[in-house]
Amino acid sequence: MIFVRPKNELTVSSLLYSFIMTRKKKHPKESFVNMTELVLPNDTNTLNNLMGGRLMHWMDIISAIAGQKHCNSTVVTASVDNISFRSPIRLGDVVTLRARVTRAFNSSIEIKIDVDAENIPEGKKIDSNSAYFTFVAVDKEGKPVEVPELVPETPEEFELYNGALRRRQLRLILSGRMKPAEANELKSIFDIKEA
Ligand SMILES: CC(C)(COP(=O)(O)OP(=O)(O)OC[C@H]1O[C@@H](n2cnc3c(N)ncnc32)[C@H](O)[C@@H]1OP(=O)(O)O)[C@@H](O)C(=O)NCCC(=O)NCCS
Repeated sequence: MIFVRPKNELTVSSLLYSFIMTRKKKHPKESFVNMTELVLPNDTNTLNNLMGGRLMHWMDIISAIAGQKHCNSTVVTASVDNISFRSPIRLGDVVTLRARVTRAFNSSIEIKIDVDAENIPEGKKIDSNSAYFTFVAVDKEGKPVEVPELVPETPEEFELYNGALRRRQLRLILSGRMKPAEANELKSIFDIKEA
């Protein structure tokens, strides 16, 4: 269905138009997801450490769930930013993943995933890694659809929200979807002047 904005601003139909076309807004806490996994033998390499691919699989799952909760639609992974594995996660550790939407664009959203690992008998906990995933909300034909706006509330959420534009421009340049010259937000942080 296509809605055309009526010319007369003060008619009932113009108010109805505004009501229908107002983009939904959501807070990060509405889609926050927390997931816990126990590292079992089948998840490890020959050194008894968690395999990176298994961790990325869990990160993909938790962020897809957060994405679906924000968008209330099917979402697909469009890109994954750099993931570094700072320290090994051992067999028997309890891995906790937390996913939050940091910003919504048109049909895409950025999600930050934080991972930590805990050896409960020894009482040791480590921050393992974090990464940003981009998801796109799609309809039944796989075509991108508009997502609700994200409205940050806490200082941390505002910081993540503000940084998301730079990260988006960088990943769009790296994937060949944006020319470096068009990345105004990135240019401003590097203080790049036009030639
Ligand atoms: C993601 C996908 C739906 C995008 O479709 P498309 O026809 O390129 O759509 P568009 O060019 O309109 O882009 C749609 C959105 O995706 C974003 N996008 C596309 N590729 C991207 C990438 N590599 N990194 C970040 N964002 C990307 C665009 O910036 C745009 O965001 P916006 O609407 O918020 O501005 C499509 O490429 C796809 O289906 N990919 C496969 C997804 C998949 O199977 N994932 C699992 C991997 S195994």
